[in-house]
Amino acid sequence: MFQIINHTCSKIHSHRLEGKVAIITGGASGFGETTAALFARHGAKVVIADVQDDRGHALCGRIGLPEKVTYVHCDVTRDDDVRSAVDLAVSKYGGLDIMFNNAGIPGNLDFAIADADGDNFKRVFDVNVYGAFLGAKHAARAMIPARRGGVILFTASVASVVAGESPHSYAASKHAVVGLMKNLCVELGKHGIRVNAISPCAVATPLLTGTMGVGKEVVEDIICASANLKGVVPTADDVAEAALYLGSDESKFVSGLNLVVDGGYSTTNQSYTRVINTVFSPKSVP
Ligand SMILES: NC(=O)c1ccc[n+]([C@@H]2O[C@H](COP(=O)([O-])OP(=O)(O)OC[C@H]3O[C@@H](n4cnc5c(N)ncnc54)[C@H](O)[C@@H]3O)[C@@H](O)[C@H]2O)c1
Repeated sequence: MFQIINHTCSKIHSHRLEGKVAIITGGASGFGETTAALFARHGAKVVIADVQDDRGHALCGRIGLPEKVTYVHCDVTRDDDVRSAVDLAVSKYGGLDIMFNNAGIPGNLDFAIADADGDNFKRVFDVNVYGAFLGAKHAARAMIPARRGGVILFTASVASVVAGESPHSYAASKHAVVGLMKNLCVELGKHGIRVNAISPCAVATPLLTGTMGVGKEVVEDIICASANLKGVVPTADDVAEAALYLGSDESKFVSGLNLVVDGGYSTTNQSYTRVINTVFSPKSVP
């Protein structure tokens, strides 16, 4: 009996996306790259959509399943590009089950509103919000008439639940993504389409190392020192695993969720404790 259960579990766990077709925007790097490889390993057919063509093609080569993984140039801010990516998934693989709107940019490090650059604000919204909107729009266009349900997934950020730690444009864009996700969840529920978001904490992907201008190890030291959950270095795998769960039928009754993947970081506010500890530290006791 135990053996049967074990066998069944390993089967489920080895092909959790068998028969599914996914598009991953921003799929050539970071979270998208890791998710593309994981989805393919779990049996999905994957369209990697990005603007980094060399990286995207190289990733397809590394995954090594040419009949199941395709790269397409797709600027998520261009309606025609997103339309073509969705049409490609449908024509090549027979439909679309998972649309992972993951592409995003951090924008400038504008923390002071009085000096903030308006063009940067618009660019961040263009990629992070309008791009996500276009992905959802074209996914729904394919999913609704196909009448086989589907999953629309967004990468938001811990910036959608914790304020003051990222630039205004980025924080506002990620709040907007969560708002879009919730509204779509309500509209698309009647079509059997689930809509969810993943909100990761800081992870040392090229986005973050590039923005901070330091190496991966320095970024990870900062992340770990400020983490709530100790003993774990968060990686793109943690986001990919969340996407796998939300993309698979294991989450078949989960919709409208902003799944925060942050080891509890946003659950607490350590400022008070830090001050208390400083005031009452052994050094301050005479
Ligand atoms: N790394 C973090 O700490 C972190 C934390 C929370 C949320 N996020 C979010 O995760 C998502 C993925 O970021 P990442 O950390 O993997 O970064 P990344 O830079 O490694 O990957 C982002 C990918 O998006 C692509 N992209 C950018 N603009 C695009 C466009 N107009 N059209 C198509 N593709 C485009 C890039 O080419 C890149 O391949 C983003 O939405 C980001 O805001 C990142």
